[in-house]
Amino acid sequence: MFSQVTVLGAGQMGSGIAQVIAQKNISVQLVDLSEDALKIAQEKIENSLNKLYQKKIITLNPNEVLRNIQFSSEFSVIKNSELVIEAVPENKELKLKVFNQISSTVTSDTIIASNTSSISLTQLAEAVSYPERVAGLHFMNPVPLMKLVEIIRAKQTTDSVFKKLCEFTIFLDKEFVCSLDRPGFIVNRILMPMINEAVFVLEEGIASVEDIDKAMKLGCHFPMGPLALADLIGLDTCLSIMEVLQEGLGNKYTPCPLLKKYVKEGRLGKKTGKGFFDY
Ligand SMILES: NC(=O)c1ccc[n+]([C@@H]2O[C@H](COP(=O)([O-])OP(=O)(O)OC[C@H]3O[C@@H](n4cnc5c(N)ncnc54)[C@H](O)[C@@H]3O)[C@@H](O)[C@H]2O)c1
Repeated sequence: MFSQVTVLGAGQMGSGIAQVIAQKNISVQLVDLSEDALKIAQEKIENSLNKLYQKKIITLNPNEVLRNIQFSSEFSVIKNSELVIEAVPENKELKLKVFNQISSTVTSDTIIASNTSSISLTQLAEAVSYPERVAGLHFMNPVPLMKLVEIIRAKQTTDSVFKKLCEFTIFLDKEFVCSLDRPGFIVNRILMPMINEAVFVLEEGIASVEDIDKAMKLGCHFPMGPLALADLIGLDTCLSIMEVLQEGLGNKYTPCPLLKKYVKEGRLGKKTGKGFFDY
């Protein structure tokens, strides 16, 4: 198994991914450009570990787990990693730039994975030398609680890289599914159009925010409504995913204007305190 892993991007996903790796006693570096993001990530991980420990979901002491995580704003620390998991925002140009940077910093046998929700791994792999070591490792939010990881093979991914990532996922006590490298893979190809449709139902005045979510919880047995889920994911991330689906699959996937409006206003969901609901 890997002994040194880097997670790049300490937002809601990166912090959760670093946490579950540290819980397995693997040394992990959580790297972000923003010192504020690193500070928030550290607090979030501490709170989550304390809760999991109190509920006896983890047996390792939270302080021991925390000692496995190095928080850093220095990109160069990634150089000795056996695996780098990229979790920067869902923007293809940014991810291509970051992939190129990773490739010129690590050695040729470092596996480079992306937590992208929708972007082509085959295109990201083109930004690195030795593209056969690239694959998608798509964790779900919140990472410490959600069982699933989607594993996506780029056209270039070798069998041995794919196998190592499958084994790593199982080692983290997660379950994986495999998807072809198509926009949105499995989960977001199905989920995002539904969330987008819920926003259309709101925009057209068909029902209130509360009733849309109540309808889907009580009528379809969903654990949370689509608008609350959009707030949890981040409306900026939802919009970016819809744009990737539209670009790759056609105008059936056009993002709802109300979703675009909220993102433009900085109303991004839970992370900004206001989305479809107030927090
Ligand atoms: N939010 C979700 O529910 C969810 C679920 C699954 C996958 N994802 C995917 O995970 C990725 C991250 O999403 P998130 O919700 O954690 O975003 P986020 O906005 O919470 O965090 C992104 C972090 O990346 C940092 N960052 C930006 N540029 C960077 C760079 N060049 N180097 C290092 N750090 C950088 C930012 O400072 C920020 O802290 C996206 O690709 C997203 O699609 C998100």
